[in-house]
Amino acid sequence: MIEETKFEKLFSTPLLRFKVANHAALSRALLAEGAMMQSEEDGVSKSNRLGWHSSGNLFDRNADPIVELRVAAEMAILAATRRITTKVDPETLKMKLFGWMNVNPQGGYNVPHTHPGAHWSGVYYVSQPEIDEGNSGMIEFLAPRTDLSHWAILKASAFSLKKRIRPAAGEIVVFPSYLLHWVYPNEADADRVTIAFNATFSKPKG
Ligand SMILES: [Fe+2]
Repeated sequence: MIEETKFEKLFSTPLLRFKVANHAALSRALLAEGAMMQSEEDGVSKSNRLGWHSSGNLFDRNADPIVELRVAAEMAILAATRRITTKVDPETLKMKLFGWMNVNPQGGYNVPHTHPGAHWSGVYYVSQPEIDEGNSGMIEFLAPRTDLSHWAILKASAFSLKKRIRPAAGEIVVFPSYLLHWVYPNEADADRVTIAFNATFSKPKG
């Protein structure tokens, strides 16, 4: 009686995850670099509650592990971009990366926020303390659409209100910077350490 003539998925939100090879050695070196930074600066207060948030652009530092992470982050951003478009080669654009380190001790968390002005945001998980149960260390993304709650009855994943994941150490998570997200309190004794970054593309001059 009817024939479907079109099915479109409008306004999707990409979420990508990558695993960094040799991440254990990289993370050890990043932790040492982070300890040095913490001894040099007090950090800043942003979306973090408790904990330490490095100031300035982490990627301005030229220490080997920071450079190595920057290369991995750039690769992740390029790969994510290629996943969402074939009309632009992201390598023909200029990419600005701005990064910072978050150290969340027990009880530390991040309130809901977006990263305005950037295209992509990403997080590298330097350390993710093990837990037996609960939501400790999880990052939760909140749907950018309103009025979704009555869709719950249809159990359609595209119309869910939130998506919660618990990335492992060594993973890079990439998502659009407009996506509202927050981090559950760290319930473990050990610090939860992440390096977050924003990637912004622009047209090269000339
Ligand atoms: Fe964030």
